[in-house]
Amino acid sequence: MINEHFLNLSGNYLFAEIAKKVKTFREQNPQTDVISLGIGDVTQPLCPAVIEALHRAVDEMSGGATFRGYGPEQGYDFLREAIARNDYKDRGTDISADEIFVNDGAKSDTGNFQELMSADSVVAVTDPVYPVYADANMMAGRRIVKLPCLAERQFVPDLPEEPVDVVYLCYPNNPTGTVLRREDLKRWVDWANEHGALIFYDAAYEAFITHPDIPRSIYEIDGARKVAVEFRSFSKTAGFTGLRCGYTVVPRDVTAKTAAGDSVALHPLWKRRQSTKFNGTSYLSQCAALAIYTEEGHKQIKETVDYYLKNARLMRVTLECLGLRVYGGTDAPYLWVETPERMPSWAFFEEMLREAHVVCTPGAGFGDCGEGYVRLTAFGERSATVKALHRVEEWLTNK
Ligand code: MLT
Repeated sequence: MINEHFLNLSGNYLFAEIAKKVKTFREQNPQTDVISLGIGDVTQPLCPAVIEALHRAVDEMSGGATFRGYGPEQGYDFLREAIARNDYKDRGTDISADEIFVNDGAKSDTGNFQELMSADSVVAVTDPVYPVYADANMMAGRRIVKLPCLAERQFVPDLPEEPVDVVYLCYPNNPTGTVLRREDLKRWVDWANEHGALIFYDAAYEAFITHPDIPRSIYEIDGARKVAVEFRSFSKTAGFTGLRCGYTVVPRDVTAKTAAGDSVALHPLWKRRQSTKFNGTSYLSQCAALAIYTEEGHKQIKETVDYYLKNARLMRVTLECLGLRVYGGTDAPYLWVETPERMPSWAFFEEMLREAHVVCTPGAGFGDCGEGYVRLTAFGERSATVKALHRVEEWLTNK
């Protein structure tokens, strides 16, 4: 018999549903040039330091003495050490190389990590939310509690009112593009410690934080090592959406309880899970990821992040001039835009595609509280982004 929990999911994964609609529109309008500000896929090529590292790694694969087969499931030490040093130790956070698990991008592990929790654990997600967290837990049949994120509270969720075992937080947030201040994140860490709960913290967009007082990692907060698992990705930081590489941080101090009430560390369980079900990220991708920690690599990826942030500023200014209410886009690559008169978001999506030939992501696809909003991505190529903005301007002013 099948796992009937799958039947409770919406028919298609959100971005697959959008891709299907756009494909149909393109087929029906073959002359039309459609610009996507929908899925958060990057457009700028990999930086020169990464390309050079890839070439070197390919050459190594061609020589008998330097060829590599299976690597360690948790990732090569060279990359784990570079991550621990550059992303944590040098920034004053206490994370060691053996607490880093290299993967093929944050989506897999944000979806997979719930396997360590019992089927009756109660999971909280924000509403709106990146659909992976909710869908993965629905597949496992867990009860999900929604934490509404509303404009009047800057889309910051309140602490759960009922008992919850795990909460997923994503900051800078996908989809609203908003960030958590240090005191807000501290409230969550304190709550988790007090209630014996875990935080699964998705920091995939950390590279887009511009304000120095916004935390880049949950481990900047005291007590987080005991309650938080952090997910990071090179996808948006360094343009790896096609290459694939990211990592998960599982501190040795994070524990959860058995039914008998004993504490069990998650680190050995995750290691056991990964070595059973995952054969490691490709050597090529890991060499490429290492290159972003060199001086030139670091500088080059920062230039690309700044390019996207400039897109975001441009988009924000233009949309605000059109009288739209816009959130996010200052410390994040996403803009969360209230539709005119809170028009239903799928209707707005359809009309914008038909009239302006520009793709957005309907807010309702991220949850009920996303209704009346759409998400736009700043990952476009500059001239396409400018062109899309002109089209939206023309469409909305003549509407
Ligand atoms: C998004 O558009 O939300 C992301 O690109 C999806 C992802 O990272 O999987």
